[in-house]
Amino acid sequence: MQSKKKQPARTGAKKRAPAKMWGGRFAEKTAAAVEAFTASIHYDARLYRHDIAGSRAHARMLARQGLITASERDQILKGLTAIEREIAAGTFVFRRELEDIHMNIEKSLAERIGPAGEKLHTARSRNDQVALDVRLYLREECGRLIELVTELRKAFVVLARRYRKTVMPGYTHLQRAQPVLVAHHMLAYYEMFGRDRERLTDCLKRINVMPLGAAALAGTGLPIDREFVAKELGFPAVTANSMDTVGDRDFIVEFVAAAGLIQVHLSRLSEELVLWTTEEFAFVKLADSFCTGSSIMPQKKNPDIPELVRGKTGRVVGHLMGLLILLKGLPLTYNRDLQEDKEPLFDTVDTVSQSVAIITALLSNLTFNEARLSAGMGGGYMTATDLADYLVRKNIPFRQAHAIVGRTVAYAIEKGKELSALSLKELRRFAPEIDEDVFEVLTVAGSVGSRNSTGGTGTRQVAAAIRRAEKALGITG
Ligand code: ARG
Repeated sequence: MQSKKKQPARTGAKKRAPAKMWGGRFAEKTAAAVEAFTASIHYDARLYRHDIAGSRAHARMLARQGLITASERDQILKGLTAIEREIAAGTFVFRRELEDIHMNIEKSLAERIGPAGEKLHTARSRNDQVALDVRLYLREECGRLIELVTELRKAFVVLARRYRKTVMPGYTHLQRAQPVLVAHHMLAYYEMFGRDRERLTDCLKRINVMPLGAAALAGTGLPIDREFVAKELGFPAVTANSMDTVGDRDFIVEFVAAAGLIQVHLSRLSEELVLWTTEEFAFVKLADSFCTGSSIMPQKKNPDIPELVRGKTGRVVGHLMGLLILLKGLPLTYNRDLQEDKEPLFDTVDTVSQSVAIITALLSNLTFNEARLSAGMGGGYMTATDLADYLVRKNIPFRQAHAIVGRTVAYAIEKGKELSALSLKELRRFAPEIDEDVFEVLTVAGSVGSRNSTGGTGTRQVAAAIRRAEKALGITG
């Protein structure tokens, strides 16, 4: 690939196993099967930008500390830029025998610029280098996911405003329970994903600590300046203990746990969307562009997106379990096991980011079937609690009121009538305290309108919640 510059021969450098950066003590060539088994370049190449950013900062620090000359630093920086361009353009040749992204880049640098390139790894080990790369990568991805979650929350608020007056059945046990505003249901998800956002923001604090300088595990005797590297790379702090630093993957576990919970939340939403798009519910309609058809049944329009999001939850939760178990038996400090952290992390980032983005897009392509929702409000005796509350206002103890309404509902079921269709005379048979004003609380609108306890589905509560959310997200409504 690159032209190989001749190095001055060192004394004692006789016949040796070639190419390997760590090959000095080895007399035999690595077995092909071992190379194949230990290599990670096919997935950690993804870290190339972060690896190069880390190397740039490291080279600047080395020059500042007099460990390399200014000219060597400049050659390194130039070489790294050329490598970065080639990788971005897809023309860089990765070599499996060089194991991972760190050694592929370093070797290529040495081949390009000679001895200066061989100085880059001064006071550095791949153990702290890989910790830095993953932290830089995850800092970026975690920030990106926070933005995606914010967009998702906006989509819920937009729906909440659009359907701020629409009533739907609220469920417990998937049985009709009490009428709620569609907006209230949407804002429940806004809150849920708000906690997710907080968790990511919190996780970011522990990702954002600079590990370089821990070296292999014990630090270095060379006069490095870790704080300078941290500043160069925008880290507010450096890690405190070199042994902890090279063996720590807690920040990955935390991220995957937070992301896994996001996926679980998306899965719950997806389950509702799958139900709501059935003929039986028909609460919502998805745009054709967000559904797919069946290869045999021409009438089908399937909610594949929510189904896939629900399905992908399994692998994300699996990644979390895998990572926890990966760490479980590890002695301090770095162990090669830790190389196994990357694939689950990368797949979690990809899966969760993609899922959040597609569900956000789907929500903007969803309409509630308002006619169907209002038609569907009858039949569940969903204002029974309102009747009990009405009796409480007439000074009947709640437990008695509950029993009275239970008997009333049983009577109504027997007569095949809604509660609101019972006559005043019929109602009074169960509680003589009942007056004409009862009919207002028995309507769906009366029920929803009355639930103005803080955080309730009452119209005023929901209007205020929408305003708060719009303000928090900077939506001008
Ligand atoms: N590819 C390795 C990893 O991902 C880099 C660190 C290797 N360190 C070592 N001492 N072999 O963990």
